[in-house]
Amino acid sequence: MSEEIDWDSLTFSLTPTDTMYIAETGMDEAWTPGDLMPYGDMKISPAAGVLNYGQGLFEGMKAFRTSKDRVVFFRPDENARRMQRGADRLKMPPVPESIFIDAVEQCVQQNLRWLPPCGRGAMYVRPLLMGSGPILGVAPAPSYRFLVYVTPVGPYFKGGVSAIDLLISEEHHRAAPGGSGGVKAIGNYAPGMMPSKNAKSKGYAEVIYLDAETHTCIEEVGAANFFCAKDGVLYTPELTGTILPGITRDSLIQLARHNGIEVKETRVTAEFAMGADEAFCCGTAAVISPIGSITKSDVKASYGDGKPGELTTKLYNQLVGIQNETEDDVFGWLHEVPL
Ligand code: PLP
Ligand code: COI
Repeated sequence: MSEEIDWDSLTFSLTPTDTMYIAETGMDEAWTPGDLMPYGDMKISPAAGVLNYGQGLFEGMKAFRTSKDRVVFFRPDENARRMQRGADRLKMPPVPESIFIDAVEQCVQQNLRWLPPCGRGAMYVRPLLMGSGPILGVAPAPSYRFLVYVTPVGPYFKGGVSAIDLLISEEHHRAAPGGSGGVKAIGNYAPGMMPSKNAKSKGYAEVIYLDAETHTCIEEVGAANFFCAKDGVLYTPELTGTILPGITRDSLIQLARHNGIEVKETRVTAEFAMGADEAFCCGTAAVISPIGSITKSDVKASYGDGKPGELTTKLYNQLVGIQNETEDDVFGWLHEVPL
């Protein structure tokens, strides 16, 4: 029962909620709005394209209860569009933005009792698009399922917003040029589990991936984008096709520039980042997580005595302030969920 939820001990983990949403369509058919149904297990063919060949995408977005007692999404149109780009790449029929937005809104409305109070967490909304029809040869599935479920969440990394220690992965890569790293393909994530678990067993919060071509430039932190700051300038890896175009990343670039901070989207070598003044990673789940240290082989670079840097703190406060409506939504990023 949600009445028993201790909102302050929420972590980034699954709490089953009441209602989910499912829509289905054929390969060359138009999507029509789906149905709400009780949250729970679903039937799927053993020969489904998603189970056999990984023809699947996910999105991650959050709904917030704000200080004005409104319920809002943060830039949901960007999630809808990113899923459409992913659908093109994985040869799936893209879900129209109107159906996507209607589905995520309905899921929030139906599960309102699971939405944490303002400032004490968020409702994580997980849209999935998958090849659900049976297919034996390696080819697009004959039918598709678009599904949305929700769950209340707290901080992504253990220890809340305290600075995290990261390890540069020298053996494994997340994505290669021409591959699927630039979209939220489900298949991008399982290969990261072993490196991530290994790093966690050594006390690190996550791994940092370098580019697969030169092994010198930082691409991403597990499932979050990377930023560092040096001499008041903010640096983030440029989008080369192997990096996921994070919506938080884009928002922080806009916010920083709005504040008069210079932002460079460029190649960021591990060497440069390890000499930076501050560093953080960001994403819907991770929000902004300050980085306390980066280790590469036996060299460890530490930032700010484990305390978040000045720029990191400023951007965190602005981003979270907009999401909570304690700061003006100057860019019109909030999308109100009608209640
Ligand atoms: N990079 C990867 C690989 C991710 O899975 C995510 C999470 O969505 C991000 C970055 C951050 O993207 P966003 O800010 O849109 O959540
Ligand atoms: C997100 O930030 O929404 C993500 O998708 C990260 C992770 C939970 C996969």
